[in-house]
Amino acid sequence: MTEKGIAKILPNDMVLSPLAGYTDAGFRTLAKDFGCGLTVTEMVSAKGLAMNNHVSRDLLYAAEKGVVAAQLFGGEPDAFVAALEKKCFDRFEIIDINMGCPQKKIVGNGEGCALMADVKRAEKIILAVKKSTDKLVTVKFRKGFGNENTAVEFAKMCEGAGADAITVHGRTSNEMFSGRADWSVIKDVVSAVKIPVFANGDIASREDYLNVKEMTGCFGVSVGRGAMGKPYVFAEISGNDFSFDLMSAIKKHFEILLSFMPERLCVNEMKKHICCYLKGIKGSRKAMPLLQSARTAEETLRLVDEFLSFDASC
Ligand SMILES: Cc1cc2nc3c(=O)[nH]c(=O)nc-3n(C[C@H](O)[C@H](O)[C@H](O)COP(=O)(O)O)c2cc1C
Repeated sequence: MTEKGIAKILPNDMVLSPLAGYTDAGFRTLAKDFGCGLTVTEMVSAKGLAMNNHVSRDLLYAAEKGVVAAQLFGGEPDAFVAALEKKCFDRFEIIDINMGCPQKKIVGNGEGCALMADVKRAEKIILAVKKSTDKLVTVKFRKGFGNENTAVEFAKMCEGAGADAITVHGRTSNEMFSGRADWSVIKDVVSAVKIPVFANGDIASREDYLNVKEMTGCFGVSVGRGAMGKPYVFAEISGNDFSFDLMSAIKKHFEILLSFMPERLCVNEMKKHICCYLKGIKGSRKAMPLLQSARTAEETLRLVDEFLSFDASC
């Protein structure tokens, strides 16, 4: 697939990065409302799907309109093949393979970023996924595993194995999320391959977007932490006028989760999101313990409403 291929299905060049525990169907819908061109599910275990694990399957619930990618992680080509045989990918235009997760329990299983240190296995996985699906196949990886910088060679391998696009996070696995992302490595990757490259790491404003595009020549950007609690970051990046009503956004997010999740679980999930939504608002830290005590959706929404009304009246 050429750049034209991915450009054909995306309305723009802005992606919401997968964020385990945050980019659920509700949050992704809000991101789309504010102009995000491509949303990606949280990482889902290929093995879990292959074994019909319902938690893995639920992570593939998508409520948003437009182009959505399902992100899979795993260490065995066969697990990806078995996962893709399941009838749960109809909604997705893209299968994204996670080769960047630095978490101990993931790399300890030879998954995520560990695959950057086992290029042959990584290649087998991409080839197997390409063979198992007609959808676009993308790969998300880092600057390198450990302290290495192997992004250029890895990107070339991905391209050779048939990846339709790649996302490069400009940090090594040892760096996790610390320091500044190295955009120069993304520039090197862009120069080395013909497939579209999405830049990732520390892109959280229109200024960052313009800078990274100019510096690297990347096809698009993938925004992670900069979107947490701020689904409107995509409207900011595109320079479009927008209005954001926090209470309506929280209600919508809640409603989407309630449509497929038990209320108790949903309330717990939403508490995490509400923390992000309220971040930076005066008094929100003090309000959180009370919010944590809420047991139902109605009670949670009432407490948020009271907090916001009180804040607005100050
Ligand atoms: C809480 C959290 C969860 C994440 N989950 C995933 C994931 O499921 N899949 C993935 O490829 N990357 C995951 N990442 C990495 C992000 O997608 C992104 O690469 C990283 O945060 C750098 O981009 P940023 O500076 O825009 O946040 C996660 C990051 C965070 C902070």
